[in-house]
Amino acid sequence: MGAADAAALTISNADSTQSVRERIAFNDGWLFRQGDPAHIGGALDYERVRDWVLPTGDHLLADATRRAPAGTPTPDANYTNGTTWAQPDFDDTKWRALDLPHDWGVEGDFRQDLPGETGKLPWFGTAWYRKHFDSPASDAGRRVYLDIDGAMSNALVWLNGRLIGGWPYGYTSWRVDLTPHLRPGEINTLAIRLDNARESSRWYPGGGLYRNVWLVKTNPVHVAQWGVFVTTPVVTREAATVDIAVTLDNTTATGANVELALRVFEADAQGRPAGAPVALGEPARVKVDAARQANYSHTVTLAAPRLWSLAARHRYVAETLVIASGALVDRVTTPFGIRKTDTTADRGFLLNGERVPIRGVCLHHDLGALGAAINLRAMERQLEILREMGCNAIRTSHNPPAPELLELCDLMGFLVMDEAFDCWAMGKKRDDYSRFFDDWHEKDLRALVRRDRNHPCVIQWSIGNEIREQGRSDGWKLAARLAAIVREEDRTRPIACGFNGVRSGYSGFHAVMDIVGYNYKPHEYARFRAAHPHIPLLGAETASTISSRGEYFFPVGENKNDGRADNQVSSYDLYAPRWATTPDDEWRAQDENPAVLGEFVWTGFDYLGEPTPYNDDATNLLNFSDPVERARAEKELAELGRVRTLARSSYFGIIDLAGFPKDRFYHYQARWRPDLPMAHILPHWNWPERIGEITPVHVYTSADEAELFLNGKSLGRKKRSPLEYRFRWDEIVYEPGELKVLTWKNGRPWAEAARTTTGPAAKLTLGADRAALRADGQDLSFITVTIADRDGRPVPRARNLIRFHVTGPAEIIATDNGDATDHTAFRSTARRAYNALALVIIRSRPGSPGAITLTAESDGLAGARVDLRSE
Ligand code: GAL
Repeated sequence: MGAADAAALTISNADSTQSVRERIAFNDGWLFRQGDPAHIGGALDYERVRDWVLPTGDHLLADATRRAPAGTPTPDANYTNGTTWAQPDFDDTKWRALDLPHDWGVEGDFRQDLPGETGKLPWFGTAWYRKHFDSPASDAGRRVYLDIDGAMSNALVWLNGRLIGGWPYGYTSWRVDLTPHLRPGEINTLAIRLDNARESSRWYPGGGLYRNVWLVKTNPVHVAQWGVFVTTPVVTREAATVDIAVTLDNTTATGANVELALRVFEADAQGRPAGAPVALGEPARVKVDAARQANYSHTVTLAAPRLWSLAARHRYVAETLVIASGALVDRVTTPFGIRKTDTTADRGFLLNGERVPIRGVCLHHDLGALGAAINLRAMERQLEILREMGCNAIRTSHNPPAPELLELCDLMGFLVMDEAFDCWAMGKKRDDYSRFFDDWHEKDLRALVRRDRNHPCVIQWSIGNEIREQGRSDGWKLAARLAAIVREEDRTRPIACGFNGVRSGYSGFHAVMDIVGYNYKPHEYARFRAAHPHIPLLGAETASTISSRGEYFFPVGENKNDGRADNQVSSYDLYAPRWATTPDDEWRAQDENPAVLGEFVWTGFDYLGEPTPYNDDATNLLNFSDPVERARAEKELAELGRVRTLARSSYFGIIDLAGFPKDRFYHYQARWRPDLPMAHILPHWNWPERIGEITPVHVYTSADEAELFLNGKSLGRKKRSPLEYRFRWDEIVYEPGELKVLTWKNGRPWAEAARTTTGPAAKLTLGADRAALRADGQDLSFITVTIADRDGRPVPRARNLIRFHVTGPAEIIATDNGDATDHTAFRSTARRAYNALALVIIRSRPGSPGAITLTAESDGLAGARVDLRSE
């Protein structure tokens, strides 16, 4: 059979038989237990098991001589293979049964004795997962792999009592080969041990098998992991050249001759082929030597390609078919996008020839009250909220994201700065990634790029954030080495890094990067541009403004250290740590330096951990490589007495931990969606104790003129001056009633907004983001609870305690309110409102459709209910 015939016949084959490739979700039916068996001692510490774990992912090392010889790992049977909890016959019947993704840290209670830096949650320590699974007899002769999208962290994997590999870095996607110790036709037992050192993270990392896990079964000759790489070297409106490079693995002891066939389709929303092929590759014969890999590249031309852009997220899918002796042996589909990107020093970032200013945010990986355990709907909701604000880009600070985030960014139209590391060989915490850097950086970096390089959303790689090697005169050499690794895997995207050292723009680092990314250096943009007119410049991390939703403190201080009380930060958006700025200061610098690519604001959402300025340890000292600044920061911390504080989550978010916009949301929206008629007033207008007192009013709007009225009386009409981003009426004397703003743009009425003094709290109202859930055990409804006065107006300072109850095929999996100091466990079904709002997250039950009702009650207030459906 010729390859072309094979191509014609295969789809049905591939979909209806097991003879090709299977990728099976492997999330259900795990058993879990924290701790270690008593006999373990330190026997499984990284230093002890290193040699046996190290061969995992060896194929990612370019220099074959650095790979472990065949036959390893061969751990000492006495204490690793002898580990009781790894044995197939160990009695695990009393272990907790659960499904993945799972984060054991977020289930715990907040503890005041734990550091705020990592969220005051018990994510550290060791824990085990076990799973018994049936390997059908048909697995004999096939390759069977366990693919883990991310395990936090230091994973060790045993199959049927044999240690078969592991992976230290908790954010990388990796694979272990089960084949050598798999027992087809029998029940097999997997055991995975994780080990999180307490001093290993600057934010809440979570703990557990917190991303998806897959079982992948292939024939012995197959497309390698991440073995298809699609690039589009020439893109015009008339035609696109598409290069599809395929890497094949031959895991047998004899050479193989195969045929490769290629078809390109339009992709449906799931990235599957839709309709008839739009291009066919020339069939090719490829020889793959025994136990080797082989590469082959096809080139096809597509006429009138439909381009991927932020507005039209059009995708294609490449189908790779491998045929041996006339039979189809593998089929892999690879979604990709056709788009042209240019990252320029003088015209910013261009997508398909048009400038797209990067209006981005940095995101940590936690999903608020859901912790680190990934959930597609929760990620999608975050992106929906960000899109509403006008955000068009995400920096995956400071680590590889869940693959699903990139899938969502492809589909929803976001640009991504895909980041590898928060440190290299010089660490920021005693037990952080620096421990593993020498052994693992090449594998981690190649794994990231290979996994993510087909996503049209990914526009640049970041090899690190504020790495301490910046302080060394030869630090740039390591940057050059990492950049070279990335370029070996992908030459189509520029490489950046987040520099906090001004000198990194001049000291050699700048010369080995494609983009210089400055963290918090708006005052350096002009100087850098003058010195390096040919290097693209990015605000890799900007602002770090801090605020608590709905809090306002008086008098309104103008110094960025002001605005702090009660472990909260005033929401006038004037406050920031020493190294940081207001949004306004950053924008001024961008507008004065329009060549800057744009920015990634720290951060889109509040996250667990790092509750600056109420952080309780010395982490932020590491922001200062300059000894003078560092000494000053040390002194300040000493004065604070390094007190343990209350806060468990950050204040940096434009949006709070529960997903409720802070005032700043409207500040960014005004700038990022200049065509959206909008206006927003702050503060709220419930200040019975401030009658007769000066109470400044600020307005965020996309208009250029605004007039403020208090109880119908004009307080003045203002025009926005150049480089001014907010309207301020700083001398307003408070009286209850209605504050109203009218705005104009280009002389025409534009948008208006009002704030009214409300009556006392009288009732609850509930609003679900979606009324219908999929009955798949994963879909979520996010329900906002508002404390309202008699007329239904949110009561801005209300903090009433609310109790929730659900009936029907769903459960309340978490509640929150966005208060960084609230220590009520996320799993609690009773929660205080924080400044009028609370959040309830409901999850459907798998396979049980039906009506769901959530009720909310609070003493002295009229209760509320909301009806949902699971279908
Ligand atoms: C930056 C750092 C971030 C975060 C931020 C807080 O310097 O890169 O990870 O710590 O400071 O302002």
